[in-house]
Amino acid sequence: MSHDHAAPIPVVRDISSLRLEIAGLRAAGRSIGFVPTMGALHEGHISLGELARSRGAAVVYSIFVNPTQFAPHEDFGRYPRTEQADVLQLATEDVCDLVYMPDAKEMYPEGFATSLAVGGPSAGLETDFRPHFFGGVGIVVAKLLLQVLPDFAIFGEKDYQQLQVIRRLAADLDIPVEILGGPTQRESDGLAMSSRNAYLDAAQRKVAGKLNLILKDVIARIHAGDKPEHAAAFGFGELLTAGFDKVDYLEVRDAETLAPVKDTSRPMRVLAAVKVGATRLIDNMAV
Ligand code: PAF
Repeated sequence: MSHDHAAPIPVVRDISSLRLEIAGLRAAGRSIGFVPTMGALHEGHISLGELARSRGAAVVYSIFVNPTQFAPHEDFGRYPRTEQADVLQLATEDVCDLVYMPDAKEMYPEGFATSLAVGGPSAGLETDFRPHFFGGVGIVVAKLLLQVLPDFAIFGEKDYQQLQVIRRLAADLDIPVEILGGPTQRESDGLAMSSRNAYLDAAQRKVAGKLNLILKDVIARIHAGDKPEHAAAFGFGELLTAGFDKVDYLEVRDAETLAPVKDTSRPMRVLAAVKVGATRLIDNMAV
């Protein structure tokens, strides 16, 4: 539900203020749901807060563009930063009780020297093209979960490999937080909502809308009896024909481990990453 005269949401920027506010919410008997984001919020992010609210929790959003998950040649510098509008939107949509917006010095103070090597579901797919990515996501998410210590945290299924890596990480490090996935929100032509869609011009936006349709074609072929690897090869060709400038991958994987499919009776997931101009888009669907 959106409100025209929304009450302002408290915004904290350091760990001790964060812990104080969360202790206050807990003292009032609230459970805590957490939605970590890099800001530039869209309906996808809002839907995660709605999911947290539907479980009766007080909802904490973090907004932090995490430098360690970008390689030097990537879009860290131009990643959209719309903090004021983000906080206003969270208030208007009434999905948030507390915003945590640390700066890079709070998260990575001088002398910071720890890194995480995440394995398992991080193998292949994104890692083949962004080898730095899951190490950066792993360290920042581990820190955020330990700072907020929510009852549960929700991550969008649009970043499905990230979600599976985080589930593994939280289990392996005994972080006592339930990790949940929130369904991908889509535009009217099916394009998965993403902060990076803002980079697309009109012609690129039209091409981008075909990605989800091709994933559906791949799934239909598998349901019709095609082998997953054959259906994926078909989809790869379709993407190039549809006008994508580069296809990083289109693969069908085991939905839980993200290992190559050996047993087609287990749940499978089709995942793809493509480029339209300089913009990289990812999407995935359950088979
Ligand atoms: O998905 C994102 O927005 C980011 O990767 C996350 C999980 C907030 C970590 O920086």
